[in-house]
Amino acid sequence: MDSILVTGGGPLNGQIPIAGAKNACLTLMPATLLSEEPLTLTNAPRLSDIKTMTLLLQSLGAEVSSLQDGQVLAMSSHDLTSHVADYDIVRKMRASNLVLGPMLARLGQAVVSLPGGCAIGARPMDLHIHGLEALGAEIELKDGYLHAKAPKGLKGAVIKLSFASVGATENIMMAATLAKGTTVIKNAAREPEIVDLADCLRKMGAQIEGDGSPDITIQGVDRLHGATHQVVTDRIELGTYMLAPAICGGEVELLGGRIDLVGAFCEKLDAAGIQVTETDKGLKVSRRNGRVKAVDVVTEPFPGFPTDLQAQMMALMCTAEGTSVLEEKIFENRFMHAPELTRMGARIDVHGGHATVTGVERLKGAPVMATDLRASVSLILAGLAAEGETVVSRVYHLDRGYEHVVRKLSGVGARIERVRDQ
Ligand code: EPZ
Repeated sequence: MDSILVTGGGPLNGQIPIAGAKNACLTLMPATLLSEEPLTLTNAPRLSDIKTMTLLLQSLGAEVSSLQDGQVLAMSSHDLTSHVADYDIVRKMRASNLVLGPMLARLGQAVVSLPGGCAIGARPMDLHIHGLEALGAEIELKDGYLHAKAPKGLKGAVIKLSFASVGATENIMMAATLAKGTTVIKNAAREPEIVDLADCLRKMGAQIEGDGSPDITIQGVDRLHGATHQVVTDRIELGTYMLAPAICGGEVELLGGRIDLVGAFCEKLDAAGIQVTETDKGLKVSRRNGRVKAVDVVTEPFPGFPTDLQAQMMALMCTAEGTSVLEEKIFENRFMHAPELTRMGARIDVHGGHATVTGVERLKGAPVMATDLRASVSLILAGLAAEGETVVSRVYHLDRGYEHVVRKLSGVGARIERVRDQ
């Protein structure tokens, strides 16, 4: 197993290219199941989660070729041979459940393993099931698998989500593209990944309006055709690397960065005393002098502050001037990074969904352990500003969502390397 060794130090300067979005690509890939014709994705990120989704689609009989060093995914679901998403693949990655809606719509049946527990929360699928049943599917849970069928096809409906779930919105939206009649998803998720999926589905011939707003309307069509689609920029990778110069000082330009993807996040950086400016290539982040100011954060669905940047923001607040309160409202167990940051000398009190961080002058390097994807990168960010060496173990979590971390950070002057555990 590998670890990442970070030696804390001075300011960072230079440019970091931002890849395509993991959470967009993981919902765009299952869209290939909706059509017999090829779907090609460009600007795809090179991540272990994308490899897992590739294996899943191939296990259903889809062809998936990774081209141009993995940045192009050429897919075809002309000859699907199975409608069963196996536990062995699904347990590795929850997003596997995004094949449920497309398979149901295309094949009239789907058997998908329930993902089981996750480090950051229970993460049930009740909203996915509620939505697909409203479209006329019959779904039962048997031996850990969801057995879904709609022998006569799906039928449009008005579906009000009790929570603006990203995954449920994506599954229902994909299924509704081939349903008879009109579907309206009320209180839908508004994340940029939803808009990117809708853009791709429209290129395939789907009729969708309102994506990005709380109400999405889908007019079902008989069939979808092939298309080529460029994956949207990864706003979470973007936000993560924006915090590197914020934590260490310096000035870094994020190539491909877009301010509209990280609005609420930039408001907090501004309040903390960090400069963010738009350039013709992306976004530039700089921190000149003095300590960062403490700011309070509450995680919310888009356009609110993203839960996927909470851990990284906590790393910044560890050395801020003053005390900040971070409230995690999306997942019930997403402070696993706090005890690891405390090992580096941070002062953090966690009570339920609230973490109170009292800023210290400087963190101290230590061996720490990654517990989930975003927690792992928050420890690397903390290590960039800490005194001495930090060794982050279990970085397989990191590989799920960040490509070329060592190359990207050392490219702007960070002292970071990947080491094989003894
Ligand atoms: C997506 O997960 C992202 N994953 C997550 O990113 C992200 O944290 C999350 O959205 C919120 O922004 C992908 O896109 C692959 P939800 P998803 O359905 O779709 C509850 C990362 O770090 N809920 O919006 O699973 C659920 O338990 C990952 O890249 C139900 O109760 O998120 C959670 O508390 C982590 N019933 C909340 O809603 C349901 O049927 C948000 O879940 C569905 C969800």
